[in-house]
Amino acid sequence: MPPPPSNDNIDRSKTLAALVEEKPRRSRVFEAHDLDYCCGGDQTLADACEGRELAPDAIVEHHHDYLRDELSPLGELVETVVDAHGDEHPELHDLQGTFEALKRELPVHLSEEEQLVFPAVRDWVESGELDTNQEAILAEVLGSLDDDHQETAEHLERIHELTDGYTAPDDACPKYRAMLERLEELERYLHMHIHRENNVLFPEIERQMAS
Ligand SMILES: [Fe+2]
Ligand SMILES: [Fe+2]
Repeated sequence: MPPPPSNDNIDRSKTLAALVEEKPRRSRVFEAHDLDYCCGGDQTLADACEGRELAPDAIVEHHHDYLRDELSPLGELVETVVDAHGDEHPELHDLQGTFEALKRELPVHLSEEEQLVFPAVRDWVESGELDTNQEAILAEVLGSLDDDHQETAEHLERIHELTDGYTAPDDACPKYRAMLERLEELERYLHMHIHRENNVLFPEIERQMAS
């Protein structure tokens, strides 16, 4: 979730209501980001944004949906490029195999998070405590989801190496270049995605479970 634009050096420790009082046009920015400056106006901007960082909805919207939209068409592009250039660039076959592993593994991982982890977090945010049944499920799945993240990171590293950091060879056609750009974007988004889960959301859940 991108932070609300702050081109006017906004003081994040002030409440939403106070910020709108200061500059009424800020209300439009807050509305666009679904920040309640009216009934929830006594929250500081920093707090309002922090809660959103944790929200599974933001991860689904910004990361899971992107992967669901991108993996198949990018897989087709990889296939086209490998068919055309695999002879001159044999490393492309290895790249295709690694990409196919991501394409196979990621949807299963996303579904597990959406079915087992995120509903528990939504309930927790709403009720203020983790349900015991959900806690048992979380204790079981967080470790294996973390292993998936490691594996994804390894696949990305392999693709990064095989493409020499997404460098186009001299003879690369426009499709080859487009494939490299999109693979680089995939790496960037997945790194951000895994960071949000592994370093922000999951530790937050674990802290709650330990308390
Ligand atoms: Fe995820
Ligand atoms: Fe994940």
